[in-house]
Amino acid sequence: MYQLSFSFSEFMAEYWQKKPTIIKGGLFFDTPQQGFVDPLSPNELAGLAMEEEIDSRFVSNLNDDWQAEHGPFAEEKFADLSETNWSLIVQAANHWHPQAADLVAPFKAMPGWLFDDLMVSFAVPNGGVGPHIDQYDVFICQGMGKRHWRVGAKDEGQYEEVCRNSALRQIDSFDAIIDDTLEPGDILYIPPGFPHDGYALEASLSYSVGFRSPKEQELLSNFADYVLAHDIGDVHLHNPDQKAQSANGMIQRHDANLMSDMLKRATQEPMLIDNFLGCMLSQSRHQLNMVAPEEEWTMDDIMQHIQTGEGLYKVSGLRALYLEDNKNTLFINGEVFILKTGLEPLASILCDEEWIESQTLASLTSIPAAIQLLTELLNKGYWFIE
Ligand code: SIN
Ligand code: CO
Repeated sequence: MYQLSFSFSEFMAEYWQKKPTIIKGGLFFDTPQQGFVDPLSPNELAGLAMEEEIDSRFVSNLNDDWQAEHGPFAEEKFADLSETNWSLIVQAANHWHPQAADLVAPFKAMPGWLFDDLMVSFAVPNGGVGPHIDQYDVFICQGMGKRHWRVGAKDEGQYEEVCRNSALRQIDSFDAIIDDTLEPGDILYIPPGFPHDGYALEASLSYSVGFRSPKEQELLSNFADYVLAHDIGDVHLHNPDQKAQSANGMIQRHDANLMSDMLKRATQEPMLIDNFLGCMLSQSRHQLNMVAPEEEWTMDDIMQHIQTGEGLYKVSGLRALYLEDNKNTLFINGEVFILKTGLEPLASILCDEEWIESQTLASLTSIPAAIQLLTELLNKGYWFIE
């Protein structure tokens, strides 16, 4: 089991979205003595980068000639690569590789809705993606090898974008406030807006645990989409008290206020906003390894499965959420599931945990509505039987 050597609460209070920091030996496997163990090998990473559904990139910078290429890659791509100056990056590796998914577990003290994905990058000496700025909070955990990192002061508009390659968003050089080498198990935390540049000193694997805070623009535009999709607010302004006016081009203050109130009413509907947020936040931005069963499960099949003493597994990276004050509405992969009164414990069982233990399952057998919901979730491919 992967574990952190530090207290998340203390870290949050001091650093989260405030300043970057390096935590030496921040992540280890089982015991601090054992140190860090890579969840995958460079070869496995290359295997992932060959898959159609998996987002991957190959970035090279031989003689300062920056090139970026998107996967999937054919096997030949990896046949005779140079010994330096390239890097292979796989996005959402936690969706496809169970051991890589385990690495994310100690970060579950952060809200699930903020988590984005685990990006894994392999780099040979001097390989990297160049200096750039992200709008993500990221914990870059060093695996095998060493990588040197430089981090600059927060972007307040002082950094200049440069185009070394149209597929890479890079900036010019920057002064470092952090300038250090990461070794296996070290963590570099970078809040959004801090420029950074990491280049491998030797063949190196790094694991970026990324968090993404929603942007106001995104909330507004997603809310507009949600309102349209649910045919909400299909009403025109109605004002039988409209007054004649002498200046034809003028919008009366009163009229502007009526329309402003229409907008405000929409965003002040608590149920509507909660449902919108739940649906939006429970949608993954990366493809999931989801396979609906060839033949649908019946409730009887599920009851029989429970007898075997085996658990049920949630698809890795699937987002299942509920609001603190409403455990009767679950948001799973953008869908709403309403739980009958009495089924509230399912919120935690389904949303807080990665799998449902056999004991928990057994305790649900006397509740047909629970079995019915599990059957539906299995048939959608959200949970599965191993
Ligand atoms: C990388 O791992 O090469 C890039 C990580 C980052 O800077 O965001
Ligand atoms: Co970055």
